[in-house]
Amino acid sequence: MLELVSVAKSYESLGDREGLSVLKDITIKLEQGQALVIVGPSGSGKSTLLNIVGTLDRPSAGRVLFDGRDLAELDDMELARIRNRDIGFVFQLHHLLGQCTVLENVLVPTLVGKGRVSKKEVHQRAVDLLERVGLGGHLLHRPGELSGGERQRVAVVRALINKPRLLLADEPTGSLDEDSSRNIAELLVELNRSEQVTLIVVTHSPGLAERIGRVMELSNGLLKNRSGT
Ligand SMILES: Nc1ncnc2c1ncn2[C@@H]1O[C@H](COP(=O)(O)OP(=O)(O)O)[C@@H](O)[C@H]1O
Ligand SMILES: [Mg+2]
Repeated sequence: MLELVSVAKSYESLGDREGLSVLKDITIKLEQGQALVIVGPSGSGKSTLLNIVGTLDRPSAGRVLFDGRDLAELDDMELARIRNRDIGFVFQLHHLLGQCTVLENVLVPTLVGKGRVSKKEVHQRAVDLLERVGLGGHLLHRPGELSGGERQRVAVVRALINKPRLLLADEPTGSLDEDSSRNIAELLVELNRSEQVTLIVVTHSPGLAERIGRVMELSNGLLKNRSGT
C-alpha cells in the first residue's frame, strides 16, 4: 500500500549551496496491515521521513507511492483528502484541544470532508474506541483532567477515528513515564492487528520495537535493517 523509492530530502541553507542532505536514499515497501519501527539518533531525519510519508512535506527526489499512486502527481486537494481520510497521525505531544471534551477532541477529524465512516456511525465508533482504550468513563472530561498517558490514548483514538489505512506515530511515548509508555505501545500493536492499519512508529522504546519486530535504523540519511531485535 505504501512504497518509497529512493527518496531523498535536503534543506536549502544560506551560504551553503549543497544544503543539508537529511535523507539520501530511502526505499521502503509496506503492505496493508504491516508494521515498522524506525529508530535513529536525534536529528537523523525521522520526523522528516514521517512528514514525507504523511504528505505534510515533499521529497527533493525519489517517489512516494500510496496505493500505487505517485503523491507527486496529486494536487493539494487530493493530498489533503488522503491525509484526512487515509492517514492518522500521533505526535509526541498530543495536541488536544484543551477547551473541548475527550469525545469532542476525538471527533475533530470527522468534521472535515467526507470520511470513510458515516456521520451516524462516527459517534458510536468514538465511544467504542474510547471504551476499548479504557477511557469510557472520561468521555466528557477535558484533556487537562487526564494523565499524560490517558491524553496520549485520546490522541491515538483521534488518529484512528476516520479508519485510516496508515497510522504514523512520531515518538508517541516520548513524553510518558514507563508504565504509560508500555500501555501506549501495547495499544498501538493491538490496533495494528485488530484494525489492520499499517503502522510506522518512530520510537526509542525498546519494548515497542520488540513487539513490532521489524526495526530499521535511520542514520546518515540511509535506512538499514537492524538486527538483534
Ligand atoms: N524545515 C526545516 N528546514 C531546515 N532544516 C530542517 C527542517 N526540518 C528539519 N530540519 C533539519 O533536518 C534534520 C533532521 O530533522 P528531523 O527530521 O526533525 O530529525 P529527527 O526527527 O530524527 O530528530 C535536523 O538537522 C533538522 O535541523
Ligand atoms: Mg523527530
